[in-house]
Amino acid sequence: MEDTATSNGHATAGERLAVVGSGAIACGLAATAAQLGEVVLVARSETSARRARGRLESVCARLSEGPLAERVRIERDLDAVAGATFVLETVLEDLEVKRGLLEALGRSTGPDALLGTTTSSLSVQALAEASGAPERFVGFHPFNPVPRMKLLEVAFPREAGAGTRARALAYGELLGKTVVEVPDSAGFVVNRLLFPYLFGAVELMEQTGMEAGDVDTCMTLGAGHPMGPLALLDYVGLDVAEAIGRTMSVPVPAGVQALIEQGALGKKAGRGFYSYPG
Ligand code: CAA
Repeated sequence: MEDTATSNGHATAGERLAVVGSGAIACGLAATAAQLGEVVLVARSETSARRARGRLESVCARLSEGPLAERVRIERDLDAVAGATFVLETVLEDLEVKRGLLEALGRSTGPDALLGTTTSSLSVQALAEASGAPERFVGFHPFNPVPRMKLLEVAFPREAGAGTRARALAYGELLGKTVVEVPDSAGFVVNRLLFPYLFGAVELMEQTGMEAGDVDTCMTLGAGHPMGPLALLDYVGLDVAEAIGRTMSVPVPAGVQALIEQGALGKKAGRGFYSYPG
């Protein structure tokens, strides 16, 4: 591994990253990290591996004219993480699913490998305990789209050692992020403040009959946000938003649930509060 001095003064080494998962965060992280070296991405099925390849190619093409996507090796078998020095699970926001996966990763990674989760709302402490390796565990939470969003929230379990903390913070900086260490509480900082606002916008529509576009225009032009709340919910995915709301105990509005029941999960499904042709 190559030695690197980071802006916070930690002397550290580059990591060989493996991400387990194939959604927007997994692919965004893999593409961002590919700028530093080879990355392994483990997908759970042929279909998700194919989808991840397409997504990676389009995200990498925005980042570089070179063959960046080729630096991401897509695998189907969890054993493929064996050579990595930092293994991140980036699967469904579901405690039991993440626990089961982390238990397996805790067993299949060496004692020097960092292990982490990109959970946005579950307890890092509980996930660290499930891994059986809390001393080398980190909550590593980037935002969508990962290559563009500058923030990385980082939370540690109580047992995390000084080396784990230094390596995780340094790697976040190597990825080009501003790293903020946040308390291990549901939703950390951003989602804790963001989701009551996003769901509040849906309730406002329900109570007033306003159109999504008008609410979004109010917030983009009146508050200077890059996207209005309904466009952002569509962008995050309504199923993901519902899972985050539930784990944070923020009531999920009926309008969000109704769209999910219709399969209108937001931009990725072609329909949510808005329609996305093509
Ligand atoms: N990689 C992947 N997608 C990218 C990208 C990149 N490097 N850069 C832009 N995009 C996407 C945008 O989503 C959008 O997609 P479509 O082309 O399919 O419509 C498109 O590229 C627009 O690109 P532009 O270059 O025109 O970008 P923009 O100037 O309009 O900015 C944006 C796009 C960065 C998404 C901006 O609108 C923004 O900052 N929005 C707010 C995003 C936000 O709040 N993210 C946090 C979500 S909450 C979360 O992530 C937490 C969680 O736990 C779920």
